Amino acid sequence: MPRDDAGAAPWVPAHGGLPALRDALHDCRGCDLWEHATQPVPGAGAVDAPLVVVGEQPGDQEDRAGEPFVGPAGHLLDRALDEAGIAREVVYRTNAVKHFRFTTRGKRRIHESPARWQVAACGPWLLAELERVAPQVVVLLGATAGQAVHGPSLRVGAVRGMVMPWPLERLPLPEPPEAVVTTVHPSAVLRSRTREQDYTALVADLSVAAAAL
Ligand code: URA
Ligand code: SF4
Repeated sequence: MPRDDAGAAPWVPAHGGLPALRDALHDCRGCDLWEHATQPVPGAGAVDAPLVVVGEQPGDQEDRAGEPFVGPAGHLLDRALDEAGIAREVVYRTNAVKHFRFTTRGKRRIHESPARWQVAACGPWLLAELERVAPQVVVLLGATAGQAVHGPSLRVGAVRGMVMPWPLERLPLPEPPEAVVTTVHPSAVLRSRTREQDYTALVADLSVAAAAL
């Protein structure tokens, strides 16, 4: 797969709503990740959701279900959103990359972070979703989502919980969100030895996003 081609762009429909995007996503060959995944995982939620939450990529369970955030990280995220006072109905959930990247160890599929070129290749899908939903606020979970939007120099630790503007020059949108908040990925909280503390900090960052709504 060449690494300097147009990525997903040739497969992304210019017109139509979220259902049209979802249908077209199944044909995407914008990078190599479609080959081993079960299916692509589109975003889920209302087209008029004021908040879009962006994760990294589908995990093992999301790959099987075809839906984002249905596994352990999703459950932790839902709990944290609740605690931050964000109702589920106002959230559209999606990922920076739409196919699961993994390596196999025996029968197990082990998550592997997408390469930078794969994130870039998948970018047109995220942008197309954001164009359709046109949310007020975007929350970026972890470095993959953070860098997909703000660029490779973003460090989550340096900006987490801050209200930032949408980087319009990097990613043009007709109706850009008013606020972008980056925080840690819920999977990192699950793996952390200081889980309680990290969970509390995640809720605090999500509360910043809630206040911007
Ligand atoms: N982690 C993510 O980043 N996204 C999902 O959909 C599930 C787990
Ligand atoms: Fe297309 Fe994204 Fe899947 Fe790559 S990961 S094939 S760019 S949908």
